[in-house]
Amino acid sequence: MNRENILNQNKTSWNAIADMAFAWTALPKYGVLCPTEDDLHLFPDLGGKKVLDIGCGSGHSLKWCGEQGAGELWGLDISENQLANAKKVLTESGFTPRLFCSPMEQNPGIPKGYFDVVYSIYAIGWTVDLQATFDLIASYLKPGGTFIFSWEHPLMRRVETSDGRLILNGDYNKIEQFHFEKAGQQLMFYLRRISDYVNALATSGLYVTQIVEETEQKTQLEASEYSPELYAPWRAKRLPLSLILKARKL
Ligand SMILES: C[S@@+](CC[C@H](N)C(=O)[O-])C[C@H]1O[C@@H](n2cnc3c(N)ncnc32)[C@H](O)[C@@H]1O
Repeated sequence: MNRENILNQNKTSWNAIADMAFAWTALPKYGVLCPTEDDLHLFPDLGGKKVLDIGCGSGHSLKWCGEQGAGELWGLDISENQLANAKKVLTESGFTPRLFCSPMEQNPGIPKGYFDVVYSIYAIGWTVDLQATFDLIASYLKPGGTFIFSWEHPLMRRVETSDGRLILNGDYNKIEQFHFEKAGQQLMFYLRRISDYVNALATSGLYVTQIVEETEQKTQLEASEYSPELYAPWRAKRLPLSLILKARKL
């Protein structure tokens, strides 16, 4: 499948599942059974700050930023239906967001050198061109600005559970297309390595200041029964399910 076809398919599918994906993963949550922003404090004080959400979905992370006092709320998403939900959520909460319908691989008219914080919660992995996306994000940030993103831990889909053991299944050396179905809709993203993210950030002039590969305390401390489920606490106790990276624009 070429990149244009992937984007078109993902856009159609995200439009179809938009109402189902309402408030799925949103700040202060970063991902699955991982510490939250309330635990990690990765964001700077947002008072009066200009923030941009890449893959803003239903707008719940932007709403959280607004509640922290952010001065301007900007968001981008490939799905019109997600953005319609985001507009409703944000305007009903008294905010005036600036929302763009576009793939993150292109700039639909977002100003350069303008933002204090650009972030992305469980959306960066959808990009079909990681370097172009990070180059754009770097261009949107002011010098010294902060970029934070969360995504699935790159090992999550390459490790299987069998008879109480975790087994590497797949080839971590390769960037591979991962196709799956959600509510009858076809979706695809690339499986990448941690180094693919870190090296692409470095090439964009984004200096990594923190990497979080951690399962939340509660899950770590509680007993959990063996389960082969992808998002099971049993798995999370042995392998972080989410990855968070924080970087600063040089
Ligand atoms: C899991 S949701 C993100 C949730 C959202 N960040 C929040 O805080 O509520 C992933 C989002 O990425 C969007 N997306 C997928 N591929 C994209 C692309 N290439 N460019 C921009 N957005 C994309 C989807 O439409 C979807 O809204």
